[in-house]
Amino acid sequence: MDVRVVDHPLAKSRLSTMRDARTNSAAFRAALQELTLMLIYEATREAELAEEPIHTPVAKTTGYRIANPPLLVPVLRAGLGMADQAHRLIPEAQMGFVGLARDEETLLPTPYLESLPADLTGRPVLVLDPMLATGGSMVHTIELLVERGATDVTAICTLAAPEGVQRLEEAGLPVRVVTASIDERLNESGYIVPGLGDAGDREYGAV
Ligand code: PRP
Ligand code: URA
Repeated sequence: MDVRVVDHPLAKSRLSTMRDARTNSAAFRAALQELTLMLIYEATREAELAEEPIHTPVAKTTGYRIANPPLLVPVLRAGLGMADQAHRLIPEAQMGFVGLARDEETLLPTPYLESLPADLTGRPVLVLDPMLATGGSMVHTIELLVERGATDVTAICTLAAPEGVQRLEEAGLPVRVVTASIDERLNESGYIVPGLGDAGDREYGAV
């Protein structure tokens, strides 16, 4: 499985803002949006382009557009904080939604929303979720996509745990991961260490 760590000074700086327990919700959301921009930029580096003739005010030249715009799939709640930024970068993209809440006892995802196109054959998909911890939520989401015919899925995660990366690898799903960091480990409560805490709570408040 292809795992790309965006090891850029600006990404490290925004991630540090997100990690810092003193960062309030508004600043956390702003840093997440900026980091999302960098991750999407990297994730789409090899996107196929279609050429079209254009006229500048000076001359005729070749213009480019994304040939096959991806489906964006934020995983609610926390992935919602990445959705607008991703859409700003790829305005032609369609957006689907998956809602999952991790049971904090069993660490298993409990699905509560699924709003996806029926047929994803031939369409690249970018899944947006800041946290890849045990990997349970991501595996569930990718299985929903694969059931619909997706074969080209990229998981965009601000942070990943080695356990989550391994889980995805073992699942044998057609996915690659773009992240700003692979952290040390999960703790006994299933939180990423050092991590940033509960991403959804830090964006929107504890429920
Ligand atoms: C978080 C996060 C992922 C999931 C990762 O969401 O946004 O979806 O946990 O954990 P996993 O890899 O162990 O499955 P959570 O379920 O806390 O819901 P929230 O976004 O509503 O806060
Ligand atoms: N979900 C989060 O929001 N944070 C973690 O550290 C693990 C799962």
